[in-house]
Amino acid sequence: MVWQPTMSKKSSYLDNVVGVDDMVLLEPLTDESLLTNLKERFNKNEIYTYIGNVVISINPYKMLPIYGQTKINEYRNANFYELSPHIYAIADEAYRSLRDRNKDQCVLITGESGSGKTEASKLVMSYIAAVCGKGEAVNQVKEQLLKSNPILEAFGNAKTIRNDNSSRFGKYMDIEFDFKGDPLGGVISNYLLEKSRVVKRLKGERNFHIFYQLLAGGSSELLEHLNMLRDCNRYIYLISDKTSLNGVNDAASFDTVKAAMNIIGFEKSEVDSVWEMVAVVLKLGNITLKAEPQSSGMDECYINDLKALREVCSLIDLDESILEQALCSRTVQARGEKVKTTLTAAQGSYARDALAKNLYDRLFNWMVKRINESIQVRGKVQKKVMGVLDIYGFEIFKDNSFEQLVINYCNEKLQQLFIEITLKEEQQEYIREGIKWTQIEFFNNAIICDLIENNKKGILAMLDEECLRPGDITEMTFLQKLNQICSGHQHFESKETQSSKFITDLTLPVNCFRVQHYAGKVMYNVTEFIDKNNDLLYRDLSKAMWQAKHKLIKSFFSEGDPHKTLLKRPPTAGFQFKASVNVLMKNLLAKNPNYIRCIKPNDTKSPAYFEDRVVQTQIKYLGLMENVRVRRAGYAYRHHYRPCLERYKMLCKQTWPNWKGNERDGIKTLLIELNVPLEEYAFGQTKIFIRNPQTLFDLEERRRLQMGFLVTMIQKTYRGWKCRTHFLLMKKCQIIIAAKFRAYNQQKKYKNMRKAAIVFQACIRGWKVRKLQRARKQEKIYAAAVTVIAAGWRGYQVRKQNRKYFKSNASRIVQRFIISSVIQNYLLGLKNNLPSMSPTDRSWPPLRFHFLSKTDEELKTVFCRWKCKKYREGISSQRKEELEEKQYASELFKDKKASYSSSVPQPFKGQYLDNQKKIKYQKLASGMEGKLLMMDMIMKINRKDGKNSPRILIMTSRNFALADAKSSQIKTMITMNKIKGISMSERRDGLFVLHLVENSEGDLLLSSNHLVELTTKLHRSIMDATQQVINVKIQDEFSVKFSKDTIAVKFMTEINKNGNRPVLKKKNSRLFEVHVL
Ligand SMILES: Nc1ncnc2c1ncn2[C@@H]1O[C@H](COP(=O)(O)OP(=O)(O)OP(=O)(O)O)[C@@H](O)[C@H]1O
Ligand SMILES: [Mg+2]
Repeated sequence: MVWQPTMSKKSSYLDNVVGVDDMVLLEPLTDESLLTNLKERFNKNEIYTYIGNVVISINPYKMLPIYGQTKINEYRNANFYELSPHIYAIADEAYRSLRDRNKDQCVLITGESGSGKTEASKLVMSYIAAVCGKGEAVNQVKEQLLKSNPILEAFGNAKTIRNDNSSRFGKYMDIEFDFKGDPLGGVISNYLLEKSRVVKRLKGERNFHIFYQLLAGGSSELLEHLNMLRDCNRYIYLISDKTSLNGVNDAASFDTVKAAMNIIGFEKSEVDSVWEMVAVVLKLGNITLKAEPQSSGMDECYINDLKALREVCSLIDLDESILEQALCSRTVQARGEKVKTTLTAAQGSYARDALAKNLYDRLFNWMVKRINESIQVRGKVQKKVMGVLDIYGFEIFKDNSFEQLVINYCNEKLQQLFIEITLKEEQQEYIREGIKWTQIEFFNNAIICDLIENNKKGILAMLDEECLRPGDITEMTFLQKLNQICSGHQHFESKETQSSKFITDLTLPVNCFRVQHYAGKVMYNVTEFIDKNNDLLYRDLSKAMWQAKHKLIKSFFSEGDPHKTLLKRPPTAGFQFKASVNVLMKNLLAKNPNYIRCIKPNDTKSPAYFEDRVVQTQIKYLGLMENVRVRRAGYAYRHHYRPCLERYKMLCKQTWPNWKGNERDGIKTLLIELNVPLEEYAFGQTKIFIRNPQTLFDLEERRRLQMGFLVTMIQKTYRGWKCRTHFLLMKKCQIIIAAKFRAYNQQKKYKNMRKAAIVFQACIRGWKVRKLQRARKQEKIYAAAVTVIAAGWRGYQVRKQNRKYFKSNASRIVQRFIISSVIQNYLLGLKNNLPSMSPTDRSWPPLRFHFLSKTDEELKTVFCRWKCKKYREGISSQRKEELEEKQYASELFKDKKASYSSSVPQPFKGQYLDNQKKIKYQKLASGMEGKLLMMDMIMKINRKDGKNSPRILIMTSRNFALADAKSSQIKTMITMNKIKGISMSERRDGLFVLHLVENSEGDLLLSSNHLVELTTKLHRSIMDATQQVINVKIQDEFSVKFSKDTIAVKFMTEINKNGNRPVLKKKNSRLFEVHVL
């Protein structure tokens, strides 16, 4: 296999590459080609270019569509060289190194003011925030870390000529992560705030943003509380030609700052105190001091307008006179005595400005401290750290002062660090590792660093010495000293150097010295150097501030506490800065550096304008050329053999999974196996060196693919193992189940068979037993038969033997005897159990012998008849007569007339009259023909009105007579042959009609209480007399014939007051209605 760098993935991106995206590949490599390449790319909006793993960023001064979540996703976990250069790529590389390789990282962002450092640092932070872990706690940490930016920018950034949002302090932020790469918190270090800006700045520049933001965005209540007006021109420290920024809304920024303070966790009281401090600084500026000539001829200062002083004092809760005195006088210690001297107006103003600057500086430091308190990591946890350094860039102004010296010193140190790591260290490593190396000439700025920081002969040391020296000290004495000691230094220039080389240099004024920095020559004006370095505040002022009751301001000026005796002078500003820079350098050296080198394309902040001169200067002082040359001459990548082999061993069969020999041989085998050309790598003592990034990229790509393959293999093996284990388990289960099932089946089968066998056995046994039983039964039968036969035989034999002794018909005699005894028994039993003699008793003893049933039946009938005969024989002739009459009545009325059933038990007495009447009427009857049958009181119903009139009935066997009840005169006498028929209702009433033959007076309508008896006797008498049967009509409607007319009688059911007696109503001449119950 021939080595072919796998460019397939990159080719698509390379197709569209503008110029060369990694300047290590630039051909030919000259200053011009480097500049042209950057220009060409910049013009096509490709603002990022690599030199190896260093990112060059050119400020586009316009928003480009190369940021945001989509881009972040694109760069996330992508290979560094896989995509076009970007800050996201270096941020990703740094983050992954930190997370996966456990290496602390730092991102060093350097460049001139306005070149885009702060923006770059924000991009790095936002990228890391986007790709690191998520979750409520993590998001809160991220939010707090990100929100520290707007606060620090508001208080530490200002508009300068070069940059509308220039950072006026140096910032280094350590972001701390846990082992998973989730942010835990952070620490911010700040370096040298340009506090002089509070009181003074160049034309066209602004004070710190927060002053304008407070005035523009503070609520009316807040401003009222602070006693401030929403007008910048009212405050001397803010007066300038332009107070607003293009495209920046100070009011909105103020809201952002407030919101950020809230997120960070500032308490309300703290926020209020901060605004009060800001207001105090501005108000201090408005305290104007005027001179008043004294008799001594000296000027004394006084406060012209007390309003501002009063406002300041009311805000910090301080007695006005204390601050007034502190501003206008000074206590001097002379020969052990404290003497108070008044200040001149200029001194007073100086003291006021010093106080304002100091106060603002301390406020800023307190803000950083307060943010740190919120974002710091609590508790002891193992941390991985990523530092982001956004420090002021190299500054070359027309008029450079102490601040520029320290800023440029810091940049020198950073350049030194860069040289140390990328240039010097690289070359030394090659030598150490025994790699062939062509020496690259580069400028080492250590000599300049030494010029400034040398503890004895350095500029800062001499300035300190001058500040601390007793006697008359001025800036000029300091310059003279510099001239004496540094004149021989090749990077130091001043008018009065020993060689007097620059005496004729008109560009170098007497009060200036020049330092040839690595980035160019800078001329520093020594004016104010002493004061700025001393950074002292009159003790009277700090004492006055300490007396204020405002908590925050009191804490700022703790040195003003009279109980504290200051034994030691506080360290000078230069000393402090040097010390903090050295700490920073140490800190950075301990981490893996990632460089972002920012370049600004022009001095006019204009987009799409690439000014060659401006860029060329930056290229020069950033040492980009040397950087490229070193990378080109050297090898892009190096690594210790062991970790390198560990990382790539999966690419070759011999080295995978373990290499037995030494690591160097392992790597060699691996590279030969992969057909990597010899010139692409070299073997050092302890490290392998790989020349081109593409080779490394290819190795990484192959590793990625192989890892994919390995992962698949592991997955496959694991899945195979899992499936197999599962299968074996299933198989085991299946065997158990099958065994159990078979056993169950067999058991079932066995049980069935057993059952069948038992049934079969039972059948057989049954059959056998039955057979045996049958045989026995047969035997028994046979035995019985034999016995019978034997008995018969024996009987026969006996009979045969004894026949001669018996009569021939003895059996019949015996039979007859038995029968006759049974009959006897039956008859005797019957005799003893005969039923009663009552003719109505139908009971009969049960029969035990069926052959006598016929006899029994006949006997029963006979007995019944006999019983009746006996009964009949027992009754008298009169009774017989009565019964015959009853019998007669029954034939006439049974089931026809309702009153019949009640008449049955009543005997037919015939005589119903009381004795007196009876005798009287008997006499009357005796005159009548025939036998007297009945005498009774009946009613005759009047045919005209239906009314009743009582009549005595006298009925003989020949006549039917009715006599008047009172007069006893016979009124009606009817012979039996005159009666044609009788009609009556079916009801219980006693009404009846006697239908008479035609020639009489008409039918009689009568009513009797003994209707059944009367009618029976009458009917019988008529039949006896005439031998004819008269008609008895029993129905509810019948007609009655009177002399001329026939009237219908109709019976109806109705309850009437007469009870049982019918009520007759004549409805009309043809209808009687009879109302009965
Ligand atoms: N990547 C970018 N895209 C668009 N504009 C940018 C970019 N980087 C910088 N700028 C513009 O340039 C201005 C200056 O950038 P920045 O404040 O980052 O410079 P700096 O290097 O921090 O300067 P100083 O040293 O003064 O703080 C920004 O306010 C912004 O308008
Ligand atoms: Mg900045």
